[in-house]
Amino acid sequence: MSEHFFNRLEDELNSSRNKHLFREVRLYPECRINLCSNDYFQLRHDPRVITGAKEACEKYGTGSGASPLLSGFLPCHQSLLDQLKKWKHKSFGMLFNAGFLANQAVLKHLPCKNDLILADKLIHHSMAQALTQGSARFKRYHHLDLDHLQELLDAHCDEYETIFVVTESVFSMDGDYPDLKKLVELKKQYSFILILDEAHGTGVFGATGAGLAEEMQVQDQVDIIIGTLGKSLASMGAYVLSNSSTVINYLVNRAGEFIYSTFLSPAQVGSAEIALGILKSAETDRKYLREIAINFRKTMKLKVQKGTPIVPILIGDPVKTLELRNTLLQQGIMVGAIRPPTVPPQTSRLRISLHTGVNRQTLEELEGILEPWITP
Ligand SMILES: Cc1ncc(COP(=O)(O)O)c(C=O)c1O
Repeated sequence: MSEHFFNRLEDELNSSRNKHLFREVRLYPECRINLCSNDYFQLRHDPRVITGAKEACEKYGTGSGASPLLSGFLPCHQSLLDQLKKWKHKSFGMLFNAGFLANQAVLKHLPCKNDLILADKLIHHSMAQALTQGSARFKRYHHLDLDHLQELLDAHCDEYETIFVVTESVFSMDGDYPDLKKLVELKKQYSFILILDEAHGTGVFGATGAGLAEEMQVQDQVDIIIGTLGKSLASMGAYVLSNSSTVINYLVNRAGEFIYSTFLSPAQVGSAEIALGILKSAETDRKYLREIAINFRKTMKLKVQKGTPIVPILIGDPVKTLELRNTLLQQGIMVGAIRPPTVPPQTSRLRISLHTGVNRQTLEELEGILEPWITP
């Protein structure tokens, strides 16, 4: 390989290093408490979930053995899919190997060149990247600003065949969420296709943990729900659900992300199905999670946000963010240090993900360390 090639890569990496934005995969020391994972109900180590994985593995093997349209789709996949459809009130659905791939597939393949996608400014990279790769035009509305969305709808609704509106339910880096009821009202007025990524709402919101759409009683009005198995469901993989068989058939026939990849392993779906059953009746844990999140947010003088477990502590400067993360690490507390380009410039932050294993004592300790960073 040519020297020029390596030099180009190194130059770009050095530029990231100089701005303190270089990323690396590393092993962190054993921590007392991990506030950096999306396992909000601590189900990854739950013996029932582990048994679910083992049983599926023993019955169907360590891998699915093939892509889903060959022989990779097994009874364990069907069983999980049926449970997901029931939970999220949708008649049709499909599984994907990751939420990233599901978002890519939906946004790259469903809208076409005569369509417009209107997406929240802060949607996850898996969706943002797909916007630039598909054939549809797209515009971003200000984060959570449904008045701005309406302005864009007013300005463009007659120019395109179909308009898609795309948002997360609970935003992954800010822990805030859109007014889904208002969004659904807009949908009645402008008849767009509403796509909702429930990655971080699932488990946490709704009477049965089905997500923010369940909590806001709009499940039936969301056209396409996407979710991952990798967060509250304690596994890995994803799903796309809809009441339209056409949408799902289209993706099954067109989405290379689904067609040309070895399907999820039986252990992944076996564990997720057991976790789903646990989450459905986890009202007490859901209440506890919200309670600690609300209290923590109040102490940090942040908006309560219905008690979403993702709590961003805005620092701004990437160096200070890393220093504070390291201070917490030395105390045995692991939190995320999130820097651009994952978040906008000058908004480096600690991202604290609360979970049901966090007790009040830990929160008090954390609040003590973070006191200088409490918003005035
Ligand atoms: C909002 C959102 N959507 C999608 C994904 C991707 O999901 P997965 O981890 O299953 O690829 C993530 C992961 O961080 C996310 O936060």
